[in-house]
Amino acid sequence: MDSSRTSEMPHVDLNERYWDDYAHSYHLGHSNQLPTDVPTWSVWGTPEAEVGALGDFVGRDVVELGCGGAQFSIALARAGARCTAIDISSEQIALGQRLLDEAEAADGARPDVTLVVGDVETSSLPDASFDIAFSDYGASMFADPLRWVPEAVRMLRPGGRLVFSSTTPLLETCLPKGEGVVSDRMVRDYHGMHRLDDSRAVYFNLPYGAWIRLFRSCGLDIVDMIETRPADSIVETDYRTPNQVAWAKRWPAEMIWILEKPAG
Ligand SMILES: C[S@@+](CC[C@H](N)C(=O)[O-])C[C@H]1O[C@@H](n2cnc3c(N)ncnc32)[C@H](O)[C@@H]1O
Repeated sequence: MDSSRTSEMPHVDLNERYWDDYAHSYHLGHSNQLPTDVPTWSVWGTPEAEVGALGDFVGRDVVELGCGGAQFSIALARAGARCTAIDISSEQIALGQRLLDEAEAADGARPDVTLVVGDVETSSLPDASFDIAFSDYGASMFADPLRWVPEAVRMLRPGGRLVFSSTTPLLETCLPKGEGVVSDRMVRDYHGMHRLDDSRAVYFNLPYGAWIRLFRSCGLDIVDMIETRPADSIVETDYRTPNQVAWAKRWPAEMIWILEKPAG
């Protein structure tokens, strides 16, 4: 489908269809980087234990926004969190169900993960019911931040944490439209960045200042923004070509925002 057609469709419908069609082959191609036993940020395979972005999650109520096959939530639940994992794609949630069954068979106990099919921009998950809301290239990339960030804040308890990973606005400016080869030149507009259509799906990003103004307008405090880097030994990953890895060793390609809803 060309991007002139995708730009006419509501992004949630388009992404639901895209992820339903792609779920099976996506997991065949990326399962190495989506472990269900170690909580791991996906693109560089960075263990949560290394970045400590989520804070203390043991015994906490956690919601994953755009969970895919819920691998991250399953790994967190195996480590002691109580997780709810929501995704717009029923195929992705069906896969999560299978992975939960496998984890139960292996552990002799079912990890505490509730799977929900739904849109993170308009979900009916209850107010103030989670200590941590997070997304690893899920809602954080494919839903409209002007809609999903306020929703996440609504679901968080006072003192709760919102953590998410995505590509950086800098990477987006250096990625020619419709191409996977990233250059050392800025070839796309930075100002006005918001909805970014490619030929298959719709994703979103904002200029750095717009992210900060969005967080502040939702009452969030900024704790940190981590620009993760591939380890020296990484040449290629299930997500990134050698060209993209080489770029990311020089410039920030991935950001993990850590935000807090004030306690009172
Ligand atoms: C790249 S997957 C991310 C999941 C997982 N962390 C991973 O790396 O596989 C992106 C997910 O976001 C989901 N998604 C996109 N838009 C959504 C929305 N509005 N509400 C809920 N989920 C959404 C897609 O269905 C897809 O499963």
